[in-house]
Amino acid sequence: MDKTKEKMIPIPIDDLINGMTTPVDLYVRLSETKYVLISKEGSKTQKDRLSTYKDKKLDYLWTPYSSYYKLTRQNIAIAGVAVGKSQLNQDLKTKFIATAANSVYEQLDQIGISKETYENVRQISEATVALVQNHKEISQMFMAFEKYGNHLLKHSMAVSAISVMLAYEMDWKNKLTLEKISLGGMLHDIGKLSLPKTLFEKPKALMSFEELQLYETHAFRGMEMITSLGVVPDDVVSMIYEHHENSIGQGFPRRLRDVKIHPMAKVIALADEFCNLTMKAPNFPNPLPPTEAVIYMDKVMGQPFNKECYRALYRMILKDSIKSAS
Ligand SMILES: [Fe+2]
Ligand SMILES: [Fe+2]
Repeated sequence: MDKTKEKMIPIPIDDLINGMTTPVDLYVRLSETKYVLISKEGSKTQKDRLSTYKDKKLDYLWTPYSSYYKLTRQNIAIAGVAVGKSQLNQDLKTKFIATAANSVYEQLDQIGISKETYENVRQISEATVALVQNHKEISQMFMAFEKYGNHLLKHSMAVSAISVMLAYEMDWKNKLTLEKISLGGMLHDIGKLSLPKTLFEKPKALMSFEELQLYETHAFRGMEMITSLGVVPDDVVSMIYEHHENSIGQGFPRRLRDVKIHPMAKVIALADEFCNLTMKAPNFPNPLPPTEAVIYMDKVMGQPFNKECYRALYRMILKDSIKSAS
């Protein structure tokens, strides 16, 4: 087993073609610092082995940052976003993104989601974090979270993780879809960065009409900010724009009904509300336990979310609460 302190880059297994000579060492990731070398530089990939990894639900192999330049392919693509070699930089300005990613474990624990549940989707989250870190434009935008303090960043990471878990629970196993959802979760509230921080410190119920109107612009603002980058897939843009729509047509900004809402945005919307109810925030000091939050969404809020997504959340939380009680 190799221990490495070097930063590693995920290579989607789908990018590896049977019989190709790999110009880099390839590793399987066991944990944040533990990697197992499975293929030496210069060896040929084998179809059987590649499909064994797929069977084990491994979507990525990893290679050290420093040898990434040896890959003959110009780009790797995660979540439909190409990460070019020229964009990789060793300077770790974005270290805080990794720190935030690590805090996901802690948060999930707090809101009662077991590590095993997260385990299924961990690689997807890690690859998305690597994407954000390595893509200049996206990471620059993401780094603006810093000035908003910890909460918004942690919230975004938690929504991302819960969204991917929900999608997985609904049997959406397509890697690209899961990666997009992961990125959509991380970026869903990016529009808040263009509004005064103080606005979000106030509980919504105490906002004036004008403040509420301003608050509701964050979905549109986020959509515009991300569209302006020109590199993020349309699905991700839709998740940002539609994450406050709800199935009964009472969301914002467009009051879309369920059939008109992007399927991935429905997942983000539910994960967002679940995280809002279960995590402490400047405007929400007393969060609910996860099981209560799920019931609250139904009994008090009238279950305004997509039914299939809600059922998946119900199963996920119930399953975990049964486990932790036993
Ligand atoms: Fe939002
Ligand atoms: Fe949010």
